[in-house]
Amino acid sequence: MYDSVFELHSYWAFAALGLLLIATLNAFAGLSSKRAFTPKDRKISMIALIFSHIQLLLGIVLYFVSPYLQTAKDAGMGAVMKDSTLRLYLVEHPVVNIIAIVLITIGWSKHKKTEDSQAKFKKIGWMYAIAFLLLLSRIPWSAWLS
Ligand code: HEM
Repeated sequence: MYDSVFELHSYWAFAALGLLLIATLNAFAGLSSKRAFTPKDRKISMIALIFSHIQLLLGIVLYFVSPYLQTAKDAGMGAVMKDSTLRLYLVEHPVVNIIAIVLITIGWSKHKKTEDSQAKFKKIGWMYAIAFLLLLSRIPWSAWLS
């Protein structure tokens, strides 16, 4: 169970981050060219939303089957906060990434509440961009890419 969810969470991250970047760049391109928001723009933004939500679900499952959680139970929360690796995996990575997914969801929901194309691009572009940076800030890079 742990191995397969770990692998899936690890590989899905490439797709989730890649699609989020594409959706963000697409929104800023729409904003700078002042073009109309089309069904294709909606689809690109929605696919990025869906992939990031699936990544979130995989992360939540992974959290509860990860050996890190057992270590935390044995060592206690004080020890987790003092150890930078445990703190990253058990606190910073989940909390910051959940906030990032909430921002993506807010950007997506807000774009639906306006008819103005530029406002749609702006809401998706900024929310997705901030979320993307937050996600990048708490990726365990050395473990992921090794
Ligand atoms: C939604 C955006 C997220 C992205 C892009 C993401 C990405 C990643 C990446 C790239 C790794 C490293 C995998 C590796 O070492 O090969 C990782 C590990 C991990 N993630 Fe996430 N993650 C996300 C959300 C979450 C959430 C919300 C949780 C928990 C609630 C979570 C829990 C974990 C855990 C526990 C590990 C460490 C697994 C282990 O080494 O045993 N992730 N994540």
